Amino acid sequence: MKEGKTKAFIIEETVKGARAQAAAWRKEGLRVGLVPTMGYLHEGHKSLIDRSVRENDRTVVSVFVNPIQFGPAEDLESYPRDLEADCALCREAGAAMVFAPKASEMYAEDFSTYVDMQDVSAELCGKSRPTHFKGVCTVVSKLFHIVAPDRAYFGEKDAQQLAVIRRMVRDLNMDLEIVGCPIVREADGLAKSSRNTYLSEEERKAALSLSRAVAAGKAMAEGGEQDGEKILEVMRGILSAEPLARIDYVEMVKWDSIAVHHRLDCPVLAAVAVFIGKTRLIDNFIWEPAL
Ligand code: PAF
Repeated sequence: MKEGKTKAFIIEETVKGARAQAAAWRKEGLRVGLVPTMGYLHEGHKSLIDRSVRENDRTVVSVFVNPIQFGPAEDLESYPRDLEADCALCREAGAAMVFAPKASEMYAEDFSTYVDMQDVSAELCGKSRPTHFKGVCTVVSKLFHIVAPDRAYFGEKDAQQLAVIRRMVRDLNMDLEIVGCPIVREADGLAKSSRNTYLSEEERKAALSLSRAVAAGKAMAEGGEQDGEKILEVMRGILSAEPLARIDYVEMVKWDSIAVHHRLDCPVLAAVAVFIGKTRLIDNFIWEPAL
């Protein structure tokens, strides 16, 4: 790294401005890290920003609620937003730029080019959100083109998203490193998420069934259980016992390809998606065999 934290902090709304600034940094030989977000930043996002600030000379945080990754019945309109607080957090954490474009800046009225993939996006969230990853891949590749970062940081909470982006980068020969960062949890275990703000007090308690299910499954895997079915059964049992929880999926897949796989003989992802009231929450654990 060439320098520590930067003093200058830029809030940029235009593609042209963000691209020019990032290019100027690269011309100076500075390494640029990108943390793509939809804003309403919490400690999970902060852990990605902190890591990028540690590993790069300049960190760009994009704050953009990407309309094309929401389905018609999803929470695009109500998705929480607070750009001022987001900018304060980014500045405090040592980011050099917040890139916060309007939707019209990112998508022309006749926008018609998408990035989509066949396999990795088909299972888990892809089943109930069939157009979601097309929207994610499209916006993330646009951000990669605009900022041209050396590294980009994504949370393991959205584990399928991370696998999808790794595959996109490999398949399309994008020249950057994708860094996955561990899930950040509340003291009681609930995985941090901007959507946690939707939960009532009662729902907040019910939401702990997700982290309890994940912890139980992870303990079985770490204890040597090889049969994924048995692990999933225990996880399903914990979630089904919670009256406010409605399971979308509880599944085990290969960690790289997101193909269904119920034996712990390779790196696997055990993932859950559950509606607590109207709020859909996800959680997971990744298990890798000891070398
Ligand atoms: O994980 C998110 O917040 C979003 O899916 C991302 C990667 C910023 C793309 O809009």
